[in-house]
This record gives sequence, C-alpha cells and structure tokens, in this order.
Amino acid sequence: MHIYRRIDDTKDIKSVAFVVCNDEITPVSDIIINTLKPEYRMLSDNEVMQYLYDSPPDIFFIGSDTRTQNQKSFRLCHTIRESGYQGIIVLIADSLKHLGATTEVTSAGFDNYLLSSDSAERIKDIIHWAIINRKRKNKYIIQFDDNPDSFYITDRDGRIHEINKRAAMGSNLTPKEIVRNGINISRVGTLKSFKSIIRPLITEENIGKVFSRTVYERESIFQIKTKIHNVPTIGLVATVVKTDITRTIYARTLDILVNSITMLSQRDNYTAQHSSRVFYYCMHLADRLGYSRNKKFLRELYFAALLHDIGKIGIRDHILLKPGKLTKKEFHMLSTHPVKGYKILKRYEFLRDSVELVRSHHERPDGMGYPDKLRGNQIPLGASIIAVADSFDAMTTNRPYRGSLPYEKAVSEIKENLGTQYNKDVGAAFLSMLTPKLVEDIRNMSRKPLDIIAQELLETI
Ligand SMILES: [Fe+2]
Repeated sequence: MHIYRRIDDTKDIKSVAFVVCNDEITPVSDIIINTLKPEYRMLSDNEVMQYLYDSPPDIFFIGSDTRTQNQKSFRLCHTIRESGYQGIIVLIADSLKHLGATTEVTSAGFDNYLLSSDSAERIKDIIHWAIINRKRKNKYIIQFDDNPDSFYITDRDGRIHEINKRAAMGSNLTPKEIVRNGINISRVGTLKSFKSIIRPLITEENIGKVFSRTVYERESIFQIKTKIHNVPTIGLVATVVKTDITRTIYARTLDILVNSITMLSQRDNYTAQHSSRVFYYCMHLADRLGYSRNKKFLRELYFAALLHDIGKIGIRDHILLKPGKLTKKEFHMLSTHPVKGYKILKRYEFLRDSVELVRSHHERPDGMGYPDKLRGNQIPLGASIIAVADSFDAMTTNRPYRGSLPYEKAVSEIKENLGTQYNKDVGAAFLSMLTPKLVEDIRNMSRKPLDIIAQELLETI
C-alpha cells in the first residue's frame, strides 16, 4: 500500500549543528551522526549566529533548556528564524515533560522535536517529516515588480510561475512558453486578490517591514507574509510567502489528539497500539471492499479508526483497568466512550465526517449495540469496518479482564456472529483477507509511534 512507500530523503542532509543550551545533549547526538552521517559541529548558544552566517547547516538540533523551561532554546530558535534561515530546526528534549506543549514548540519556529530516548528509525521519520513540511512552507514565493504594467511570479528556485506580456518582453519567449517550463501555476491562481492586498504596501516607507495577514480561500486558510525590499536594479519589490496553514492546523490538531491517546496508553497500556492496529486493519479492509480509490471515504475512515477510542480518556481507571468482569453500572460508564469521543472530535471541522463513525463503532446490525441502538443499514459502513477490526484486535490481545484468544477462536467468533454483531458483508470480507501473517505484519507496523502514523496519514489523504 502506498502509505508505506517512501523515499529516504534524509540522505540529502549534509551538515548539522548541535546547539547546547545549558543542558547536555545526550547520546542522541551520536545516534543522529551515525544515522545521517553528516558533517557536524557542536556549538554553544552564543556561537550560533556567527556560524549561521558563515555556513548555515541543513539542520539545527537545539538542546532543550529545562532550567529556564526552554525559554533560552525557544528564543534561540526564534532568532535563527528571524535571520531568514530556511532550514530545519529540531528541539531535543529529555522527556515529554521537558518539552512543554507541542504547539508551543512549533509556534516557536521548530519543525519538530526529538526525545533523547528516540531510536534511529524514529529520528529518520521525524527528519523526513520536517523536510516535507519545510518544502511545503516554502512553496509560494511571489514577487511583484513595482512597475504597475509588469509582474511575474517565481518560486524559491526562481522558476517562473506566472508572467505578463510586459515582463516577458525582455526575452524571446511568450509568457505561455516561459510558464510551460516551470511548474504548474494553477495553484497560484489567486493573483488578483494578492495584487489588491500587496500593491498598496509597496512604498518607500515600508522598506524592510514585514506584513502578515491571514486569508481564507474555499476551505483553506493561508497566511501571507509580505516583505518589502529595495532592489537596486528593479526598484521596490515585495516578496510574498504564501503558506497553507490549513494542513499545519490539521497536523497540529491531529498531533494533540493522538498524543492524548498515547497519554491514555500510559494508564491502560493498550489504547495507543490498539488504535494503530485497528487503523491498519481498516486500511486493508477498505482496500478489500473496493474503496481504495474513494479518497473521501478513506479519509473519513482513517481518522475515525485512529481516534475511535479517544473517548476513553474520560473513563476512570477503576473501570478502564478493572481486572474482573464489569458490573452493569461500570459497563454503562465504559459504554459512554463513543459519545465522549464524538463530543471531543466534533469541535474540529476537518474531522466532521469522521465523528459519526467514532460514535457508532459499537453499534450492531441486530440493534443490540450502543449508544443509539442503530440497526442494519442505519449503521454507517465505516463504523461497521471499525467495529470488526476493533473486536478482532481486542479479542487477540491481552486485556486486564482476560488473556488473548487464539487466532482461530477469534476468527470463529466473528464467523458465528455475522449479521448479528457484525455487518455480514464487512465481516465476511474481513475474514477473507485475514491470515496469521497479516496479523503479525500489522503488529509489527503498529509499533511505530502514533504521531508518526498520523503524520504519514496526513500526507497520503
Ligand atoms: Fe471502543
């Protein structure tokens, strides 16, 4: 499946710098050096700026500064960004506790963070995502000539995306021919609104100033940052960086949500890997049911599968971790988790279509499920997919109240309850694709941290 295929772009990392802010950078620096094999420098915080101008590295790794609650490392990151550095900056923290909130880390200008206990594989993953996100952030750079009759748009590499006749006059090519050699310009189609926003800003008194504003286009949110320069050969020019922050918001929100599941698994030691296994089962099952091309369906299903048990953060330990059978009252409490999950997730616009699946993942075709006692076709298909994956995984995993069932027993349990507990077609498709090898593969894949799985998911949908 496409989600696992990936180019190893960490090979392109040639140089890195480690910055020590008070605390030690733990042996993780050795792992990074052994994994990426870059040229590297160890710097103290006051050597950074000099080094930045002389030979900027591809990545800065800044050690977390726990004594001042990261103030020093955050400030340093901010200063590096202010200088116009476009490379990757990663924070290294000793533990999640030393990290502070992940949102603060990204808003300080870091691309990502590492924990000093992270493995080589995870370090590669994190750097891979930092590279992808950075490319995305730098996607739109638009320059306007101050001559009202001529304008052109280029990306950071200087390739022309759009140019009018007047500006093209200096070359022997038509605007069309020029553009054809660059990348597709259809995504830079909002020039008119940019023009009206940016042109009035290009004045002498604004030289050196940066203007920032947020614009809404269709369902996306963009941030436009405009800097006015005085370029001797052209005159006054604005550089416009258009950043699609919708995906950044998605990524951050999803990060927070999956982190709460990871936190939950520190209590019940189950939910995080269970969530990723259910996610992978659902992926295979949707494929088997012929939905591999239906992006909308997959998107809705994948988010819901990953987050289906998030409502358990609202369930008390004495119920969640109870070794014996639950009393009627306790079961009632536990069975509120689909609605709790629904309430948590429905606040997020991009999860709008997934919340119903989270709510209905314990419904049964015979009407004996919860919370809404839906029957047959009233249950969304995605919820039926999650239900069978969820049950199978719960049955084949050790739980506080019982050991895991053998593979064959779990299979016959599903077979016997087709049409009553499980949607007949979905359950049958599940059994038809199931093999002990698939179970083993999914177990191995689900060892990957949930936030990495979530980031990979965002990239494919
Ligand atoms: Fe559940």
